[in-house]
Amino acid sequence: NVPIRTVCCIGAGYVGGPTAAVLALHNPHVRVVVVDRDQKRIDAWKGRHLPIHEPGLGDVVRAARDGTSDIEAGTEAARQPNLFFSTACIETIKEADICLISVNTPTKLRGVGAGRATDMAAFEGACRDVAMYAKPGCILVEKSTVPCKTGQLIKDIMEAHRPGVVFPVLSNPEFLSEGTAVRDLMQPDRVVIGSESTISGHRAAAALANLYAAWVPRSRIAPINIWSSELCKLAANAMLAQRISSINSISAICEKTGADVGEIAKSVGMDPRIGPQFLKAGLGFGGSCFRKDIASLTYLSESLGLPEVAAYWQQVLTMNNFQRDRFARHVIATLNNSLRGKKVTILGYAFKKNTGDARESPALDVIRILLEEGPKSIAIFDPLCSEADIKHELSVLEKDFAVCKPDGPVEVLQDPYTACADSNAVLVLTDWDMFKNTKPAPAPTKPTLAESYDGATPTGVLHITPKLEQTNLNSKPPTPPRTPKISPLPADIACRLIPEPSCPIDCTE
Ligand code: NAI
Repeated sequence: NVPIRTVCCIGAGYVGGPTAAVLALHNPHVRVVVVDRDQKRIDAWKGRHLPIHEPGLGDVVRAARDGTSDIEAGTEAARQPNLFFSTACIETIKEADICLISVNTPTKLRGVGAGRATDMAAFEGACRDVAMYAKPGCILVEKSTVPCKTGQLIKDIMEAHRPGVVFPVLSNPEFLSEGTAVRDLMQPDRVVIGSESTISGHRAAAALANLYAAWVPRSRIAPINIWSSELCKLAANAMLAQRISSINSISAICEKTGADVGEIAKSVGMDPRIGPQFLKAGLGFGGSCFRKDIASLTYLSESLGLPEVAAYWQQVLTMNNFQRDRFARHVIATLNNSLRGKKVTILGYAFKKNTGDARESPALDVIRILLEEGPKSIAIFDPLCSEADIKHELSVLEKDFAVCKPDGPVEVLQDPYTACADSNAVLVLTDWDMFKNTKPAPAPTKPTLAESYDGATPTGVLHITPKLEQTNLNSKPPTPPRTPKISPLPADIACRLIPEPSCPIDCTE
């Protein structure tokens, strides 16, 4: 057995930070050091306010990073700190018995394969550092999501820098979901460890499996072939995303026929061969993984001379874009086909609840389409995404819409009621519980036009405020109410279209 005393985790992001923390918590005699080039991120991991929000993460990090006294720990004995954060990448790599690479692998933005191929620059950089500075025999683990056959690329890099030195390479893809990362890491469905079929490969896989076995039942640790391991991560994400696109395609049919996509999802999900997960129709999938991983799969398929396979998965992305587009156009149509002089509020920017990750949010596409219509303003409120992160994401719209200028059309607010004040429409784009649990507003004097957009819930609920009914495009709008009336969301946020017979605008689609 290869003894593991020091683990180096390269990349202190959404995967590296929580993974290293849970690993350290369950292996108190192993020193776990997380390194990153980003000084600010490392400082945050060392401080009281962690750089990412995940339920339960603070407790895990504090226990492993700061240690506990026996009294503090109650039934447990005192533990020494064994989780460290540092920017000293090279020094840490030199001491490590195993290096987990969990750096970002986004989609390439330019050059060959732009928009689909994986940008391996950060991953290659990390591999080069390991190749140059790691001690012989150090195990290198792909934790980042990478294209199939990356293991070969790593071996080539190692061979180029340290010819003849053995560095076993493993693939150990991470299946955690943001928002439930700690739970997913504490109780994983499976831990996949891919290795080469060599003695050193099997030994390395066994050493990594021993670290996991400190808290994961052996029956859930699956040693497999390295290429299967690399591909299974892309396959899992593609299949999850495919379910979302499938139910969203059905939601479009529901809108035309009067069928209820919520009822369909429920009945379809009761079939044990299908199951109820990932069948909520909505704005489509977002986040930093699904889109890029499917794009990577289509690119891989094409590179392997399999255009039919590429086209099959491409359709999952096409359906996802269609859903956002449909929702935004429905909002515009509902607002009399013009947003001139109107304010739209967006409640929730993150791609899902319980995360402050603003990357790849469906809200960005919705905002882009709304801005084309020249609204007076778009107000955004999200309980966790910071204004800086949202503005950073919106900066791709800067050239066309000057969104980041202080007097630009988009404003990020800290309070939902301020964000909704004087608004013509409120769009709920993230399934945050705080939006669901809004207490029913007092009955308005006039009937409120409250509409849940078909197939776009929970991440796509459109509420037209009462003000809309009084809005006459050619006259000055009446004084807005002091407190905006947000019509309550249905308890289960079921997907349905409530046609409003007295609606002064065109609600049909
Ligand atoms: P991230 O962007 O949050 O973190 C990556 C970190 O790596 C950054 O802080 C960056 O500064 C650092 N980094 C880049 N190159 C470096 C180098 N050479 N040396 C030291 N640090 C370096 O990325 P995230 O979200 O943690 O994702 C990491 C990988 O895990 C990606 O491949 C992603 O596809 C995969 N993944 C992500 C999941 C998620 O929910 N975010 C879930 C499962 C897998």
